[in-house]
Amino acid sequence: MTEKSPLFDTPVAGLVKARRSFRSYAQNPVEKEKLAALESFIQNLPPAPFGTPVRFALCDMGHNGPGRIPGTYGMIKGARWFLAGAAKNSHRDMEDFGWLFECIILRCTDLMLDTCWMGATINRGPFAQKLNLKPDETIPAVSPLGYRTKRRSLTDAVARMSVRATSRKPWQELFFDGGFDAPLAEESAGQWIAPLESVRLGPSATNRQPWRIVRNSNGVHFFLQRFPGYDKITKSADMQRIDMGIALCHFELVAREAGLPGQWETVAHGVDELLPRTEYVVSWVF
Ligand SMILES: Cc1cc2nc3c(=O)[nH]c(=O)nc-3n(C[C@H](O)[C@H](O)[C@H](O)COP(=O)(O)O)c2cc1C
Repeated sequence: MTEKSPLFDTPVAGLVKARRSFRSYAQNPVEKEKLAALESFIQNLPPAPFGTPVRFALCDMGHNGPGRIPGTYGMIKGARWFLAGAAKNSHRDMEDFGWLFECIILRCTDLMLDTCWMGATINRGPFAQKLNLKPDETIPAVSPLGYRTKRRSLTDAVARMSVRATSRKPWQELFFDGGFDAPLAEESAGQWIAPLESVRLGPSATNRQPWRIVRNSNGVHFFLQRFPGYDKITKSADMQRIDMGIALCHFELVAREAGLPGQWETVAHGVDELLPRTEYVVSWVF
């Protein structure tokens, strides 16, 4: 049975489908009530899978007018408010940050606010000041918040085209049954269809979709297949581990909403042969 998540006004699977990145923002201000709702959401975030301390802030970057926002390499236009966060450096910091930040992004979608994950094309300096960043913390990503312009900017349209932002890999490239030699067909995924589909539809840095998932009798096992040379894109934070955190967030929220039992654990997954450049992350066990 599907129950509405207590976190959001709209079912999570619907929010996952509705969210899109927007890089040009209209000049209608974000209402005080919505900023207050986000502040309260941030104060009451559910726990992330690995327990990394992460803190978030809504930052008024003080820009007025439709122009390009300094520090975004010309990518973002017209946004005054940004969501930023700092994670304490630790083993699974990027995954936890991805999980929590995506939770807030989905709440923005719930409040009809537009967003855009930004991890590569940002200058972290001004956000480090706003967050009073400590030496043992990293800012993995930020996002503008606001209302999209009627038409996407040329920069936004080009950015989307270059990564084919509206397309996603098919099921057979992402999900496997028993081992990586057997694709998991949607028809055979039973109760896991909705959580897996919500992983598939998630955002990822340059839309690489690095998540690979194997279902077997021990659980649903999450693996990261790294794109060659991707770690050189930004040294500030490991984008593909953030992508994995987003996948874990979508999977867990949709599974919980569907009333499916389970929790995150690192287990002996029993998957023998891995794909190239692939590492095990965690499993949903039940
Ligand atoms: C971790 C992460 C980092 C990203 N960094 C950037 C960025 O630096 N600049 C940018 O323009 N888009 C960035 N994106 C947005 C992706 O390009 C976008 O999510 C993807 O193309 C899919 O499009 P969609 O969000 O509209 O579904 C990032 C996305 C993620 C998840």
